[in-house]
Amino acid sequence: MKKAFHVEDLRFKYSSSDVDTIKGISFNVFEGEIFGFLGPSGAGKSTTQKILIKLLEDYQGSIKYFGQDLKTLGPSFYEDVGVGFEMPVHFGKMTALENIEFFAGFYQSTADIQQLMERVGLWEDANMRVGEYSKGMKVRLNFVRAMLNNPRILFLDEPTNGLDPKNARIIKDMISEFRDQGGTVFLSTHLMNDVEQLCDRVAFCVNGHLHDISTPRDLKIKYGKREVKVEYKENGSTLSSVFPMEDLGDNAEFINTLRTKEIETIHSGETSLEDIFIIVTGVELQ
Ligand SMILES: Nc1ncnc2c1ncn2[C@@H]1O[C@H](COP(=O)(O)OP(=O)(O)O)[C@@H](O)[C@H]1O
Ligand SMILES: [Mg+2]
Repeated sequence: MKKAFHVEDLRFKYSSSDVDTIKGISFNVFEGEIFGFLGPSGAGKSTTQKILIKLLEDYQGSIKYFGQDLKTLGPSFYEDVGVGFEMPVHFGKMTALENIEFFAGFYQSTADIQQLMERVGLWEDANMRVGEYSKGMKVRLNFVRAMLNNPRILFLDEPTNGLDPKNARIIKDMISEFRDQGGTVFLSTHLMNDVEQLCDRVAFCVNGHLHDISTPRDLKIKYGKREVKVEYKENGSTLSSVFPMEDLGDNAEFINTLRTKEIETIHSGETSLEDIFIIVTGVELQ
């Protein structure tokens, strides 16, 4: 698997701040994955994204983009990159379509604008001024902008923030499809749902540090409860028993329950990613 980004010991301090905001973090983003950067507000997610897209240049440590030092890359880097900023920035006095066409002018090749706007449900309002758009419409337009240049790597900062569940679903489906077609995604979020539904791997980010980096599944196996709960019917009521996962096949009581009871449900104990975040980092997400 190719490394889209290889980041080593990244540190960054805002000039107005006394301390490092990013305090020595290392991670890889592999080509073709959705890499989630999960953490509470103020953790340093947006700052990290801005560094990776060369908006903040004065960092320490090493960042390689497909093996090349990020600092040596010229403007052609931006042909590869699609960016959705946390705060949607559009020209309010221009229509949505005018906004998108304006930004399309920066790129050598662009996606089918009508198709993108139809997909996110904005085509009918394409000629409305963005100043009259609702928050959710602006967020969707922001996503269209990120996808505008058929990027190779997509940066999304809180992409579903402010969207209703139906529109959040559409955006998430589009992000998954982008990945399924070989695209790479760096996704910053404080929303566990985004991570559960989208991310192939997730890094836990708190106060400028990274904690565990793993797949959601492996995190659940590592930190989740390893037990099995069996619910069964007995004399008209539902009873339950919990068995440890270890040596389950040799657990006579478990096997006896399966053999003799009228089973209703069987579940392995799963700790939610939200709980795992707290276990690993010691802080709450929101
Ligand atoms: N332009 C800036 N100048 C100084 N400090 C900043 C600036 N932008 C963000 N910060 C600070 O850096 C820290 C990380 O912010 P940010 O990267 O936006 O976190 P997140 O995206 O995880 O919420 C916060 O303490 C924030 O106040
Ligand atoms: Mg942020």
